[in-house]
Amino acid sequence: MNGGGKGITVRVPAKVNVQLAVGAARPDGFHDLASVFLAVSLYDEVTATPAERLTVTCEGPDADKVPLDRTNLAARAAELLAARHGLTPDVHLHIAKAIPVAGGMAGGSADGAGALLACDALWGLDSPREELLDICAELGSDVPFSLVGGAALGVGRGERLTELPVAGPFHWVFAVADGGLSTPTVFREFDRLAEGVEIPEPTASPALLEALRDGDTTALAGALANDLQAPALSLRPSLAATLTAGTEAGALASLVSGSGPTTAFLVKDAESADAVAAALVASGTCRTARTATSPAAGATVL
Ligand code: C5P
Repeated sequence: MNGGGKGITVRVPAKVNVQLAVGAARPDGFHDLASVFLAVSLYDEVTATPAERLTVTCEGPDADKVPLDRTNLAARAAELLAARHGLTPDVHLHIAKAIPVAGGMAGGSADGAGALLACDALWGLDSPREELLDICAELGSDVPFSLVGGAALGVGRGERLTELPVAGPFHWVFAVADGGLSTPTVFREFDRLAEGVEIPEPTASPALLEALRDGDTTALAGALANDLQAPALSLRPSLAATLTAGTEAGALASLVSGSGPTTAFLVKDAESADAVAAALVASGTCRTARTATSPAAGATVL
């Protein structure tokens, strides 16, 4: 609820990249991607309330790892939106955080998209979708998808989206690792491992898009692919044991989520999700495990 009508709360999903094809480093340092995003039912909630100045607070198990200054994408979203409209961002942003921090599930991006939509509603701007998507792209490569949700193909830096038809539900388990991984560091490791190797143009796999459209879990399991998995494993070799533990527990497929270190396990159904989550926790190869389903709606005012 919206705190007695004073504030606006927006719920935003996490994502997993069911395919992440990475091209060669561009002159601007970014990489061209074919990124197939799928929103999953782990959510952050961002509440915007009028305040004397821009402030950010956060609650949740990892709240101490979330920056509360202007580097937080939620704060930057409020500033960018206010600047476009000649307003001052006099707002308090409270983040109820359930998405793993620095985990490769776009938690920071979710908070950026959530704050943007919450401030837009709080300030009565009713901005056109295209303008919100522009601001999202300015905030970061994954932020537009946090707004849109469902499933989408991201090209360019990952920010130019085409929504994809998706059935479901798909059932997932996510193993949360101790500590985060920095996305730029993982991309740099990708570059290091790719030295001297011809890197093909990133393209989306037709078989994967078909599996999403048909809600075909078995086909999706066979098509999951993440070019950042090798660099994430190179930086965090212990993730290999987590991937193995999930597969041995009955997951149909396992992969690193985005730049990691969260690992994702596609499973047959809700019952299997509970069993795989329990086995992952018992294996001692992760901090905790969470179950979720896809697709999930994008940023939504509650
Ligand atoms: O866009 P975002 O701010 O999330 O990107 C964080 C970092 O990840 C970039 O500074 C860059 O190092 C890396 N990145 C990249 N290619 C992309 C997206 C991100 O190299 N397509």
